[in-house]
Amino acid sequence: MGFADDGKVAAHSGPPPAAAPATSPTEDAPQVAPATTTGDSSILPASHWQTVPSSEDDIDDDDFDDDGDSALGTVLSSTASLSSSILKYRNIHGRTFHSDIGKAEAWTPNDETQTESMDINHHLCTLVTDGKLHLAPIPDDIKKAIDIGTGTGIWAIDFADEHPGTEVIGTDVSPIQPGWVPPNLSFEIDDANQTWTWADDSFDYVHLRCMFGSIADWPALYREAFRVCKPGGWIEDHENSVKFDSDDGSVTEDSPMGQWTKVFWEGGKKFGRTFRVVEDEVQKRGMEEAGFVDVVVTEFKCPVGPWAKGEREKQLGLFAKLVLETDIEGYVLYMWSAVMGWTKEETQVYIAHLRRQLRDPNVHSWYLHRIVYARKPLTA
Ligand SMILES: C[S@@+](CC[C@H](N)C(=O)[O-])C[C@H]1O[C@@H](n2cnc3c(N)ncnc32)[C@H](O)[C@@H]1O
Repeated sequence: MGFADDGKVAAHSGPPPAAAPATSPTEDAPQVAPATTTGDSSILPASHWQTVPSSEDDIDDDDFDDDGDSALGTVLSSTASLSSSILKYRNIHGRTFHSDIGKAEAWTPNDETQTESMDINHHLCTLVTDGKLHLAPIPDDIKKAIDIGTGTGIWAIDFADEHPGTEVIGTDVSPIQPGWVPPNLSFEIDDANQTWTWADDSFDYVHLRCMFGSIADWPALYREAFRVCKPGGWIEDHENSVKFDSDDGSVTEDSPMGQWTKVFWEGGKKFGRTFRVVEDEVQKRGMEEAGFVDVVVTEFKCPVGPWAKGEREKQLGLFAKLVLETDIEGYVLYMWSAVMGWTKEETQVYIAHLRRQLRDPNVHSWYLHRIVYARKPLTA
């Protein structure tokens, strides 16, 4: 599969192609039922990575910051008015993760290193869409929009600036949003995995981005989105595949990137939150099952690293690599350590190999970024 000029792989509508947990800010032990054996026999054991030759320089003790207090302190002081339950963090090898409340269970940390990576990812996502914040043809003067799992709120802030007459709400389970935001934007702590708290037919536009691995029941999520969406309103969901692919075989199954895919897919099963949103056509199928119509699917192939030809692809590749390198540990730690049961040292060695592969100019990896939008019928 080659890149089109605009990086798009396909845009289609109509029928689909064939197609556990813990608490407490201080504890240091992973609590999601660790599994040292895996259901997928092609996942290499943790001990494999100790035997692969690696330069000592690649493995840096600083990869794991065992003190991890400063980011937590900042979050705590800036959100003093929130209820204390919202501020429960789990500590895994020095990184803070949102502690499970209700059905929320975040696999990425909620500290400053991760939020910096999230903000770089926002830039990457808007490069993918040529600067557009949405692809759905929503009118400029919509009354109410919501961003589910808003993260640092960076998309919601830009959207609220672009639509000053729209009331915008951003929700998340972690209070990591800034306090200084456009007057038409507010943030709420809300668990997307529970029945949503908003009234039927109340939003003109429901937006989600990069929620793979966070949703326990996607069809139920889209049903809630359908319920709160006004007749004629829109839903839009931007999701990534976690599969590192290559056209020239430079990403092999047993390489760190090949194993990344397998561990996320297998770990997602144990964790009860799929990472196969793109592969299993979760967006289009879920939206259609919920009752949305006029579904439009747009897919982009996103290079990782500056190997791809063309200015746009090079930019995408550089930023995709930067997103990962900014917090490679944050993306790996929970799934490898808490879900798969690898020790801190085993995880650290794997990360060093992964980092090395990311920097290898002979590796021409890419992943899919899929945007799906749809409309609630006027008669619903
Ligand atoms: C990868 S980040 C994406 C953030 C944002 N959508 C973006 O694209 O910049 C995923 C976010 O989902 C939040 N999250 C995870 N589980 C959630 C849940 N059950 N309800 C609401 N937010 C959740 C996490 O706290 C995190 O901020």
